[in-house]
Parts: sequence; C-alpha cells; structure tokens
Amino acid sequence: MKLLVANGPNLNLTGTREPQVYGGDTLAIINSQLKSRFPDVTFEFFQTNGEGDLIDKMQVVDKERFDGVVLNAGALTHYSYSLRDAIASINTPVVEVHMSQVFAREEFRKTSVISEVCKGTITGFGKFSYFAAVFTFLEKAK
Ligand code: DQA
Repeated sequence: MKLLVANGPNLNLTGTREPQVYGGDTLAIINSQLKSRFPDVTFEFFQTNGEGDLIDKMQVVDKERFDGVVLNAGALTHYSYSLRDAIASINTPVVEVHMSQVFAREEFRKTSVISEVCKGTITGFGKFSYFAAVFTFLEKAK
C-alpha cells in the first residue's frame, strides 16, 4: 500500500505552533512514528505552505499510483475551492484529517469546503488523527 501524507500551510510548524492545540511533536516525529507503526505502508510525506503546490501535488497522485491520500489541508480546508476542485478531479481516495477538534473552535473552522469530496474526515485526535486515517486505508484494503 502506497500512501501520501500531505500537509498544508503552517503544519511545518507543528510541535512549536500552539502546542496546547496541536501537540508537542514535530511533523518529522509524527511522520517517523507513522512509518514505525505501519511498516508495511510505503509512505511519501509532503508539506507545503502554498495552495498551488498542494493542488499540483493532488493533480499527480493518480499518475503516481498512490492508494490513498491522508490530507491535512490546514486553513485551506475552510475556504479553498480550488483545492476542493483538485480533490474532486482525482480518483485516488482522500481522507481529510485535523489534529484539533475543529468543531469546538472558531466558527470559521466549522466549515470545510473539502469534506464533500473526501472519503471521510477525522478530526480532534491530535497526531492520532493521521494514524486513524492510515488505519482506514489498511482495513479497507483487506
Ligand atoms: C488544522 C485545523 C485548521 O483549522 C488549522 O487552520 C490548521 C490545522 C488541524 O490539524 O487541526 O492549520 O487542520
């Protein structure tokens, strides 16, 4: 199984950015923990602060033959129709993840413009939101 774990704007700051919200582990630590926990998965990890870069990456996942995408789009989740259109245009399933419980935060975070074009959404479990998303792909593949 080949999975892309893609992170959008500001998620490169995970570990130091609002640790009370996003936890104290860096993205590099979370990614290496994913590799250890799921040794049979071939992971590619991608992070960008650019909306266009994230869209460019979504556009190649079919061609690059990923079985799935675990996507934390950061704040783009809440307003990026172009990211939504990119996800809608691909065949590879995308699971939306958020570390924080977005429904318990500011109003603007309660809207996701990408949920409708994602397979599902996992929110509020800290770094374990990523683990849970990977688990759904593995279980479905059985
Ligand atoms: C986030 C939630 C978003 O609202 C926020 O903009 C982020 C991170 C999360 O993982 O909880 O950057 O996606």
